[in-house]
Amino acid sequence: MVKLTIDNQPIEVKAGTTVLEAAEKLGIYIPTLCHHESLLPYGGCRLCVVELCRKGTADLTSSCTYKVEEGLIVKTSTERVERVRRLEDKAIPQGFDYDNITSFRKEAREKLKRFQPATLGQASRISGVTPADIAILLVHLEKAKCAK
Ligand code: FES
Repeated sequence: MVKLTIDNQPIEVKAGTTVLEAAEKLGIYIPTLCHHESLLPYGGCRLCVVELCRKGTADLTSSCTYKVEEGLIVKTSTERVERVRRLEDKAIPQGFDYDNITSFRKEAREKLKRFQPATLGQASRISGVTPADIAILLVHLEKAKCAK
């Protein structure tokens, strides 16, 4: 058995349990999109992100794929977590013109044009699209919103 704490509530679960499953046992709601109990978890949408505190650091990870660890401290609704969830869902307008963004690297522009992601979360998981590309895209999405 593994002891951990989720949102200041202690719990003991079997080894191999995911953080999402442990939270559910405590009645703590974590939003999910790509998770389904009949499918193998693959961490695709990142909507279930939580903050893990250990060894003096706080990392973000998808709770549906992360297995519990002894002494782990999990926080499910910090400001960082909420910010990531909001960005995951941030819509990219259909037909968005990536050619107008001159600061994009060529590879990022071509892949975004080819895959046409619907959200920033989808865009961030395209191989070859870096966090810097996502930041540039976010700035342009915000500018476009202000121009309306
Ligand atoms: S529910 Fe999609 S990554 Fe966890």
